[in-house]
Amino acid sequence: MVFLNGKFLPIEEARVPVLDRGFIFGDGVYELVPVYSRVAFRLEEHLARLERSLAHTRIANPYSRGEWRDIIYRLVDAQPFEDQGVYFQVTRGVARRDHAFPKDVEPTVFMMSNPLVTPPKEAVQKGAAAVSAQDNRWLRCDIKSISLIGNCLLRQLSAEAGAAETILFRDGKLTEASASNVFVVKRGVILSPAKSELILPGITYDVVVELARANGLPLELREVTEAEVRAADEIWVSSSSKEVLPIVSLDAVPVGDGRPGPLFGRMYQLYQEFKQKVMRAGKREAVSA
Ligand SMILES: Cc1ncc(COP(=O)(O)O)c(C=O)c1O
Repeated sequence: MVFLNGKFLPIEEARVPVLDRGFIFGDGVYELVPVYSRVAFRLEEHLARLERSLAHTRIANPYSRGEWRDIIYRLVDAQPFEDQGVYFQVTRGVARRDHAFPKDVEPTVFMMSNPLVTPPKEAVQKGAAAVSAQDNRWLRCDIKSISLIGNCLLRQLSAEAGAAETILFRDGKLTEASASNVFVVKRGVILSPAKSELILPGITYDVVVELARANGLPLELREVTEAEVRAADEIWVSSSSKEVLPIVSLDAVPVGDGRPGPLFGRMYQLYQEFKQKVMRAGKREAVSA
């Protein structure tokens, strides 16, 4: 069962008009929330980011925070599996094709929940490969836009190289990866770019930062140069579906000794413990690191 514009219905029956601005222009925003044992992870933070994306794109928010929460949990509870990835998107709505905003249109809201796909155990234990590319996306990567052609083209480079991610550099500085944020470790210090309009403010990035700070792991959020990434002892990527994943080769060159590093091991353990804590607290309870 999926949700479309106020109704729960089978996916085969969900239909959107071809003039939807999401279809014509990619004019919409989205979220993906991981759900563990039917508890949505960091739901308030995802909803806050959705509100922010809607505000920046000037798309009307059709629901209150409480209404969003209720729809999400009705969808989650209707699925026959425990761990889920809830995808939801809001487009500007259906209108005659014209770049300028239409007047008096209702946004289109679509939501579906699929079984959560996390990296295979082997990738976590042995690490994954990444390639690099120039970040040639637009300059508002902080908005979680459904216009993902830039990200898709960049991700395809790593897919074709048999790698898990494409790590991106702009003007010699690390930004993020095609569908995740990036952390590097050098001499025991965790480094990652500070939030800006050039990266998505990842919900998982925030959890990693909070866990590092709460557990006294040295962390600096600042400009990270391409040279620092290439000389890093460890590289990790983070996202709602990848959680924290070690990258052990970049452009076919081993990262550090070519195995997941000790700080990754520590962060992975902290992240799993934090997930357990969230699951024990149950629905609707905020848990901090
Ligand atoms: C470009 C990009 N950066 C970062 C992330 C990680 O964000 P989050 O941790 O909220 O999933 C994503 C997630 O899809 C992404 O697409």
